[in-house]
Order: sequence, then structure tokens, then C-alpha cells
Amino acid sequence: MKLRSLILAAGKGTRMKSDLPKVIHKVNGIPMVKKIMDLLNGIEVEENILILGHKKEVVLEALGDVDYVVQEEQLGTGHAILMAQPKLKDFQGDIMVLCGDTPLLRRETLKKIYDHHRESDAVTTLLTSIYDNPFGYGRIVKEKEDVVAIVEEKEATPEIKAIKEVNAGVYIFDSQELWKALSKIDNKNDKGEYYLTDVIGIQVREGKKVGSYLLQDNLEILGVNSKVELAQAEAELRRRKNIELMEEGAIIIDPANTYIEDGVKIGRDTVIYPGALIQGETEIGENCEILGNTRIIDCKIGNDVRIESSALEESILEEGVTIGPFAHLRPKSHLKEKVHVGNFVEIKKSTLEKGVKAGHLTYLGDATVGEKTNIGAGTITCNYDGKNKFKTVIEKNVFIGSDTMLVAPVTIGEGALTAAGSVITKDVPGKALAVARSKQIIKLDWRKD
Ligand code: UD1
Ligand code: CA
Repeated sequence: MKLRSLILAAGKGTRMKSDLPKVIHKVNGIPMVKKIMDLLNGIEVEENILILGHKKEVVLEALGDVDYVVQEEQLGTGHAILMAQPKLKDFQGDIMVLCGDTPLLRRETLKKIYDHHRESDAVTTLLTSIYDNPFGYGRIVKEKEDVVAIVEEKEATPEIKAIKEVNAGVYIFDSQELWKALSKIDNKNDKGEYYLTDVIGIQVREGKKVGSYLLQDNLEILGVNSKVELAQAEAELRRRKNIELMEEGAIIIDPANTYIEDGVKIGRDTVIYPGALIQGETEIGENCEILGNTRIIDCKIGNDVRIESSALEESILEEGVTIGPFAHLRPKSHLKEKVHVGNFVEIKKSTLEKGVKAGHLTYLGDATVGEKTNIGAGTITCNYDGKNKFKTVIEKNVFIGSDTMLVAPVTIGEGALTAAGSVITKDVPGKALAVARSKQIIKLDWRKD
């Protein structure tokens, strides 16, 4: 049987109180609706179509290349699905409908409900769960064991409000039966919207069978309508990610206080201390130590690296590198084996070859530094004249004395030495000593008491 999916993502998300469309709010680093699309990747769906509307340009920018149809006015979930009818009107098969705001769903659950649907003779199958406090969700009205309708919170009588089984917002419809029933829904309800959920009552009244699949773990169906629910979803996804990483061999000292986004990979026996924030597509090797108060985003880090209280962006760190405390690696920094970058050092768009040391209070920007060179405390590459950026080349085995200003463009030859406090404006040949500071003057008995 053929399967296609429709993902509802056109709504304003009024209850979020945000300028950002709801479905692209991130949960553990990934836009909510992207999480839903990722789930569908593991299922044999011929085509996934998003329904976009409110600020669709912003949504598209966050998602990149996707198939979509547009719902210009947000007149309800049923109206939204109708926007895909021109595309799917001749399609014979099943349509899985999902909401863009339920990021805790698992792929396994989608497989299970689909199998359940295939094995039954129902025209529609719903995913449901039980909440002690079902407020806000559509209630599943049953007669004996059979689903007869979904009633939304706004229209629910006190008896219906007492029902604890709720609609998860995941449905599988026989395509042609869906279009037939959708043509009959109206907006005569408290919200004045066309509800997708009304399809259920219509089908049942026409003698069609509607089935349901009850999910025990109700957290999984959490619909994110507010920022409080966003934080709940975030906490759960973070918990799942930490478990996954520990199962693969990482050591997380205090998972409740460790923030690792979904796209991150971490090798065996690497220890992550509380307060670390590791984001984006970061990859960390084995046996590393990442201490608290560290933020790493989109970095590639080798084995045996130690990082303490530092900020790292879009950089590469090879085996045995040590960083911090209080260092900042800005984009395109490449630190090769055993480089040490210490306290209050900032590096931008620079390559430090094997064994380079920059221990304290330094700025290296647009520079290349050769093997085993030592950068003294207080060294600065003066790479910017207010208009343009210039390169500094420091060759291998150089000793840059403390408080050297390297006015770029400038090259320091292999094995050279710069005297402390020098302002280097001209190239220094290999093995030479460059002194560029005013001479010390001594005036004896200067102070008279
Ligand atoms: C919906 C269901 C409810 C269910 C709950 C599960 C309806 C009428 N109600 O309620 O039974 O328990 O989800 O989380 O379907 N959207 C559009 N166009 C619109 C309106 C909404 O695309 O015109 C999209 C939203 O972007 C969102 C999804 O549909 O991704 C659900 O809309 P939302 O307003 O969050 O519905 P709920 O009130 O949560
Ligand atoms: Ca919702």
C-alpha cells in the first residue's frame, strides 16, 4: 500500500507569544517541525508535504528544500489539509497526517500505528493517549470500544471534558475517504474554524470504521502550544540525547545539568562535566574532558582533548589539544596536535601547527603559526587597520616574547625571536633577534624624599 504524509505547519501559534512561527522554535537544537520530518525519514513514505502559511518564508528559511502547499488564511486544521487536495486528489493510498508541534513522537510509534491501520479494516486510525489533566486536547468519545467522535476543548460539555483519552494529532486516513469526509466539515463551532477532527464524527455517522491506537507514554504526544510546553519538550529531548550518548560510551557526570544538542557526536570515555553546552554538528573524539562553563558549537574535536571554561565556534582541534580556562576560538581556527591555548587567549581564522603554545592573554587573528612556536603572554596580531585584514605568518620554532605587537602583514622567520614589548612592523629573518622598543633610560636619584 502507498503512504504519503501531510504535516500541519501553517498555524500562527498564538499561545506561544512569539514573533517566530511556532513550528520552527527549536527543541534541543532542531526546529520542531524538522524533528517530525526526520521521523518520517525512517518510514516508507512516498512523499512528505508540509502545509505552510503564517510567515512561510521564515519557515522555509529554517527548513531549506521541502515540498509544501500554502494555506493563505489559517481557518483550521481541516481547512489546512484541504489545501493539499489538488495535489493528492487522485492518490489512492494512505495519508498520514501529523502536527508540526509534537516533537516528542518516536519513529517506532509511527510505525506501530501504521501497522495497526494496515491490519485493520478502518478507513481512519488515530493515535491517542491518556492524560490525568487532558485540558486543551481533543477528547476521544467512544461508545463501548469504538471511537465515535473527537470533541475539542472549546465545544466539550463537562461530561466530555472528564474524558481522559485525548487525540495526539497523528492520523492515518484512507485518501479518498478523507477527501469525501472533508468536503462535509463546516466552521460552526466556538472557534469558527474548520476542524480536521470533525472528519471522525462524519465518517462514523456514515457507517465507516474509525480505529485508534493507544500509546501508553503520554509524554510522547505532548503538543507544544506555549513556551512552558516548549521547555518540557526540550528537557525530554535532552534527556533522551544524553541517554543515547551514554549508551554509546560517553560519560556524563550530571545529565540533568548537561546540554547536548541532537546533532552532536561524542566518542567513548569522553567525560562531560555539568554546565557544558555542546551544539550544532559538533563531533568530539574519545577520552576527552569537557569541563563546565564551556560552549562548543559546530566543532570537530579529536581524541584526548581537554577543554575548560571556554567558548569554541566552528573550529578544528586535533588530538591532545588543551584549551582554557577562558579561551575563545572563533570560526576557522585549526589547532593541530598537542597545541595548548591557555587563559584569556582569542584565536580567529588561524592555523596553529603541532605543539604550538599560546598560554596567556593573546589575540591571534588571520595568522599561521609553525610547529613548536611559543607565543608569549600578551602577544597581539594587529591584523586590522580599520578597513582591511592582513595576515601574520609565524614560522616554526619561533619565540615570540611577551607583549609583542605583530603589525600585519608581517612574517617571522623560522627560529627567530622577538624581544618582549616589541612592535614588529617589518619581516624578521630566520634565527634573528628583533628588538623594536625604546631603550631604557636610567636617571639616578630621581626621587627626592
Ligand atoms: C489539535 C487538535 C486536537 C489535538 C491536538 C494535539 C484540531 C482541531 N485539534 O489541537 O484535537 O488534541 O492538536 O496536539 O485539529 N494548523 C494549520 N492551519 C491552521 C491551524 C493549525 O496548519 O489553520 C497547524 C498548526 O501549525 C499546528 C497544528 O496544525 O502544527 C495543530 O494546530 P494547533 O492550533 O496547535 O491545534 P491544537 O489546538 O493543539
Ligand atoms: Ca497543538
